Amino acid sequence: MTVLTDAVVLVLGASGGLGSRIAAMLDDEGAIVVRAARRPESLSGPDAYLADLRTEQGAASLVAAALQAHGRLDGVVVAAGVVAFGPAAEVSDATLAELLEVNLVGPIRVLRDAADALAASADAGREPFVVTISGVVSESPTAGMAAYSASKAGLAAFVSATAREYRRRGIRVLDARPGHTDTGLATRAVAGSAPAFGTALDPDDVAARIVRAVVDGEKDLPSSAFTPES
Ligand SMILES: NC(=O)c1ccc[n+]([C@@H]2O[C@H](COP(=O)([O-])OP(=O)(O)OC[C@H]3O[C@@H](n4cnc5c(N)ncnc54)[C@H](OP(=O)(O)O)[C@@H]3O)[C@@H](O)[C@H]2O)c1
Repeated sequence: MTVLTDAVVLVLGASGGLGSRIAAMLDDEGAIVVRAARRPESLSGPDAYLADLRTEQGAASLVAAALQAHGRLDGVVVAAGVVAFGPAAEVSDATLAELLEVNLVGPIRVLRDAADALAASADAGREPFVVTISGVVSESPTAGMAAYSASKAGLAAFVSATAREYRRRGIRVLDARPGHTDTGLATRAVAGSAPAFGTALDPDDVAARIVRAVVDGEKDLPSSAFTPES
């Protein structure tokens, strides 16, 4: 079991449907939560920082802010992301760039830039972790969401390989792959409009399942972990 009391945890996408819930649940577990988002209007208060994951320095600046505020970093949750819909043959360069920068390159930089601080946490006897949320599309790439699926499958691949590397440094890296969840993400698509999805997962349940996995020391959260019985 991973004790979260006094663990310093950076939550990216902390203004979002999943990130805000995960951050609140980590608060309830006794963690010291450092919240991050992109837009000033979406996040404020103490221990809240803004950075755009599309910029080269965005990820590093958030890790540095957490370290400066608390002197250590024990966990990172990457709950930032964007979605787009539409036929593969019609995806624009701007949409492609945003999907890949926010969903793939940004999170890769986060994992890279947090590695030394998380390894120091392990050396100090803590149980550092990283959570990413690639979603079910990384297991089952979806027509009408080809570029989104590709950005998330790329993330899942990077995380899977990185998990094996970081394990040697005492860092647990966990990818969560829930299906469609009722956060409103689909209504904020950077391009296209959402198809008719089936029944959506409840964001409270998805966030709670992710936090439970962190506490219980789980190493992977496939889509099957988000069925109601799980
Ligand atoms: N909802 C689902 O159905 C579902 C299913 C599987 C996986 N996921 C994944 O779970 C994650 C969270 O989804 P959600 O439903 O909570 O989405 P959401 O409510 O739309 O929240 C998205 C978050 O990402 C942040 N963000 C967007 N662009 C950013 C950028 N360029 N730089 C930094 N932060 C940025 C937003 O910050 P601002 O508020 O400041 O813009 C917001 O905090 C995403 O990666 C999503 O792909 C979602």
